[in-house]
Amino acid sequence: MTTNPTRQTLEALGIRGEAEILAQFAEVRRRFDEEAARRANDDAANIAVMRNAWIGRTAGAITHITDNWLKPAIPEQKRIVGKALNELKAHVERTLEELRTRAEAAGESGAGGARVDLSLPGVRRTLGTRHPLRQTLEELELIFLSIGFSVVEGPEIETPYYNFEALNIPEHHPARDTMDTFYLSLPPTPGKPSPELLLRTHTSPMQIHTMEQQKPPVRIIVPGRVYRRDNPDSTHSFAFQQIEGLAVDTDITFCEFKGTCEYFVREFLGPKTRTRLRPSYFPFTEPSAEVDASCFACDGRGCRICKHAGWIELFGAGMVDPAVYGFVNYDAKRLSGFAFGMGVERMAMMRYGISDIQLFYQNDVRFLRQFP
Ligand code: DAH
Repeated sequence: MTTNPTRQTLEALGIRGEAEILAQFAEVRRRFDEEAARRANDDAANIAVMRNAWIGRTAGAITHITDNWLKPAIPEQKRIVGKALNELKAHVERTLEELRTRAEAAGESGAGGARVDLSLPGVRRTLGTRHPLRQTLEELELIFLSIGFSVVEGPEIETPYYNFEALNIPEHHPARDTMDTFYLSLPPTPGKPSPELLLRTHTSPMQIHTMEQQKPPVRIIVPGRVYRRDNPDSTHSFAFQQIEGLAVDTDITFCEFKGTCEYFVREFLGPKTRTRLRPSYFPFTEPSAEVDASCFACDGRGCRICKHAGWIELFGAGMVDPAVYGFVNYDAKRLSGFAFGMGVERMAMMRYGISDIQLFYQNDVRFLRQFP
């Protein structure tokens, strides 16, 4: 049962004369205008629904009027109905088109239906900059690339063999302690002993991987992330970056080692910077040294930055301990070399006068903007 008059013939509606017919059309038009006013701010999808209800080819109101009012009309009524229908149809189509255009414009310019002003400047997306750690890393890499080193990278998950044993770090060494190292516990594989794995505590394991994989001569640097079980404070982080260096050849002496350190320090901190090698100990180098640079702030006179020492500690290094060659089947009688390992954060902090390592990891743009 329907009360919609467009679904019935004029005869069934009891309509005959011209005035009655026109009144009937006026009523339909009133309903249409009412809906159009209600939908003035509808989006394009809703306008499409309305359009289908009014001028859809099979079920639109105009089609019903054509089928039910016009086609069965008696000859005297046909002209009146036809003319009124044409007018209604033109009005409906025009109005729907206006609604559609307005809805689409509003959709493009966001809410509110504001018009797009094409003369306005576009949305400018500011270019980012490289993170100060990245900048430092690239600078360090360039210095070593310029003297014949190549860059290699390696895994952050290691076995104790590569992280410790092959580097001549014995079982009882404190660096192996669970207080310092993140050990990984993996689900056991049936029938196999579960492998002991850890997060590398330094980039030095790549010395071993590299020498296992290639014959001498070797000249590599290894940038990468390393992990230690330290509580975060202004100089400690549980994850930080290092650059490892390794040079092995048949004719590398302590002179090459010292010369390389001096070259690096001058390139990184300026030509007037002096270098000092201080005796130290690492299980995988013999002799071992701490490489210091004369303080860039006071030129060695002593200030707060160098804690009145005149020198700043840069990194650990030394001549490769012959015991290490034994782990990689290198001929210790014929070969010699040097190695070093530096903290990228430490170098960046010194270089830029940054006093808190945590600033590197907080991604605060007020900090990052200072390194354009
Ligand atoms: N692996 C050492 C550390 O993380 C740094 C280091 C010292 C690396 C001396 C070396 C080296 O290659 O020769 O503390």
